[in-house]
Amino acid sequence: MRTLIPVTAAVGTAALGYAGIVERNWFTLRRFEIPVLPPGTGPLRVLHISDAHLTPGRTRLRSWIRSLDDLDPHLLVNTGDSIAHPQSIGYFLDSLGPLLDRPGVFVLGSNDLYAPEPFNPANYLLGPSSRRLKKKEPDLPWEKLRDGMTAAGWLDLNNQRGQLTAGGLDIAVAGVHDSHIKRDRYEQVAGPADAGADLRLGVMHSPEPRLLDQFVADGYDLLLAGHTHGGQLCLPWYGTLVTNCGIDRKRARGLHRHPADGRAWLHVSAGLGTSPWAPARFACRPEASLLTLVSGDSG
Ligand SMILES: [Fe+2]
Repeated sequence: MRTLIPVTAAVGTAALGYAGIVERNWFTLRRFEIPVLPPGTGPLRVLHISDAHLTPGRTRLRSWIRSLDDLDPHLLVNTGDSIAHPQSIGYFLDSLGPLLDRPGVFVLGSNDLYAPEPFNPANYLLGPSSRRLKKKEPDLPWEKLRDGMTAAGWLDLNNQRGQLTAGGLDIAVAGVHDSHIKRDRYEQVAGPADAGADLRLGVMHSPEPRLLDQFVADGYDLLLAGHTHGGQLCLPWYGTLVTNCGIDRKRARGLHRHPADGRAWLHVSAGLGTSPWAPARFACRPEASLLTLVSGDSG
């Protein structure tokens, strides 16, 4: 026992140091090819970013996001939780840098509206964090964040539909605000997606199954979401412990179908950052994803 206690303490300290210092800054780009375009079209490179939770001072994360422009994406999709501090907005827009000159769409997440508050990280394992949300009114200047992205020409998809051209393709888009804080209003975007478009893209912050079902019922081919952080603190060889929403554990990150045996594609980003009050990731590196859309089975 005398040996066990110091060994356990040393292992715990090393794991905390690794999760908070090494893995949290060990960004990775995930690449997926998705056969979702009509025959004879594509490829279309879509860069999916999410959950940066950016605070001033995260210079490594800012530089890494800027470097993603080298991938030459045709379209940017930001699924929210971009900031975590009232002074982060200029910092986040600056991190996007040249990416803002490309076609883009976005939705917001709860952390774009509400500043994070200290919490016991163990609570994260007890259930969805909206149960802990006590504030009634947003206390972050989310309008400035929205305006910064729309001023660059990005489409605001918070309970809105739209149409855009990227990579020479006609794309029908629709999105909902964050269901995690009950701001989603699917009825405002409901209705058949444009069957004449080359791609029908549905965007949301939290991959709530009832929303995914509605997008699929309306004919959307590709659904993009974030929010889960992939579980953030995962177990090696087991994976995600909690998803923080209704999606199943196995689809908390990465590329899958929706329904699980269905036709539409679902990509959930494990995100770029963490809450400043839970600054650690384990077995779940911070990520962005390059989705290369090619012609395939839905054409
Ligand atoms: Fe997040």
